[in-house]
Amino acid sequence: MSSPLFEAAKKNANIAYKLDQSGQSHQSIRYYIAAAEQLHKLRDFTEDPNMKKLYYERAMSYIIRVKEIRGIIEPSEGKSKGKGTPSSSASSGPEDEITGAISDVIVREKPNVKWEDVAGMIEAKRALREAVILPMSRPDLFKGARKPWKGILLFGPPGCGKTYLCKAVASEVDSTFFSVSAANLISKWLGESEKLVEELYDRAEEEAPSIIFFDEIDALAGRRGGASEHDAMRRVKTQLLQAVEGFGTGDELVVTIGATNTPWDIDAAMRRRFERRVYIGLPNQSAREVMFKIHTRGVALDSNVDFGQLSDYTAGYTAADIALLCREALMHPIRELDADGALKDHSIQPRKPNIDDFTQSMVHIKPSVSPEELVEYEKWKEKFGG
Ligand SMILES: Nc1ncnc2c1ncn2[C@@H]1O[C@H](COP(=O)(O)OP(=O)(O)O)[C@@H](O)[C@H]1O
Ligand SMILES: [Mg+2]
Repeated sequence: MSSPLFEAAKKNANIAYKLDQSGQSHQSIRYYIAAAEQLHKLRDFTEDPNMKKLYYERAMSYIIRVKEIRGIIEPSEGKSKGKGTPSSSASSGPEDEITGAISDVIVREKPNVKWEDVAGMIEAKRALREAVILPMSRPDLFKGARKPWKGILLFGPPGCGKTYLCKAVASEVDSTFFSVSAANLISKWLGESEKLVEELYDRAEEEAPSIIFFDEIDALAGRRGGASEHDAMRRVKTQLLQAVEGFGTGDELVVTIGATNTPWDIDAAMRRRFERRVYIGLPNQSAREVMFKIHTRGVALDSNVDFGQLSDYTAGYTAADIALLCREALMHPIRELDADGALKDHSIQPRKPNIDDFTQSMVHIKPSVSPEELVEYEKWKEKFGG
C-alpha cells in the first residue's frame, strides 16, 4: 500500500493542496499533475478493482482541479467534456473525462528554439518552411493544387536535430503546437491512449492552424511486444492513421509532423500517411562551425579558439555530440577552480576556455553514430525518402 510511488503521489498532492489553498493555484498545477500521473501508474500496478477505482477517482479529482484553475471547464461546454466537479463525474462517462483532462494537461508546449539557432540543415529547413511555416502564415496561397502536406516525417540518426528543428518550427509560426512523445503516450496512458489521440485531433481542429508533433513515432509503429501490449498499440496506431489521413479534410489546417531514429520500424501504412519524408543527417563542415558558435554563446573564449578549425576536426560528429563537446570544454576552467577550492571566492574568475580544452574533450567525446549505421539511413532514404 505505501509503495514509494504512492508516497510520492501523496507528497505531490499535499504540496499542490497547500499551494492551492494559499492562493498560489497556478504553482500548484504541476504538483497536481505529477500526483495524478503517479496515481495513474499505480492503477496499472494493482489488480484490486477497488484500489483501481480509488486511484482513478483521486487522479481525476486532481485533473479536474487543474482544469478549473486553467479556466478550461465551462459549465455549458457541450460534448462529453468538462462536466464540472468530481462528484458529478459518475454520471458523465469517467473515461471521457480522463481523456479530455489528460490532453489538456500534458500535450501543450510552446518551445523557445529560434529559427536562427538552427545551424545548417538547409534542405530540411526549406522543406519545413514550405510545408508548414508558409502555409500557416499565408493559408490563402496554399489551396487547391498547392494544398499543404498533411503529414511530414523527419528521420535520421539520433542527435541530429529532429526534435530541435521541430521546436524551431513551432516557435516560428503563430499556431497551436501539440507535442506528444509517442513513447510516453504508450507507456503512461496505455488503454486511454487511442482516445487521447482522437481528442488531440479534435482539439487541433478547433484551434487550427495547428501542428501536432509526434516524437519517437516508431514507438507507435510496429514494434512487437507482449500480446496485450501489441493489441493496445495496434488500436492506437489505427487511430493515428485515421487521424492523420481523415482529419483536416475540411479547411482546417492541421499538420502532423513525426520524427524517428528508426524509420525501418515504421510499417508501410503509417509510412504512406507521411507523404513528405525529410532526412536529417549529420551536420556538414559549415553547419558544425555555426554549431560551435551557438553552443559557446555567452562565454568569452580564448582568442586561439578557431571555429573553422574545430569543425574540421569534428567530421562525423552529430549536433548532439558537438553540443556535448562544447559543454565539456567550457567546464574545464570551472573544474580547475573547483579543484583549487577557489570556486566560492567570487573575486576570482575562471580562465577563458581555449582550443586545448576542445581538443582534449575530443579524446573522450567521439562521434556517436557509426559509418555503418549511416549507411542504413542512406539506404532507407534512397528507398523511401523524398
Ligand atoms: N541544427 C542545429 N543547430 C544547433 N544545435 C543543434 C542543431 N540540431 C541539434 N542541435 C543540438 O543537438 C541536440 C540534440 O538534437 P535533437 O533534436 O534532440 O536530436 P534528435 O531529435 O534528432 O535525436 C539539441 O538539443 C541541440 O542542442
Ligand atoms: Mg529527438
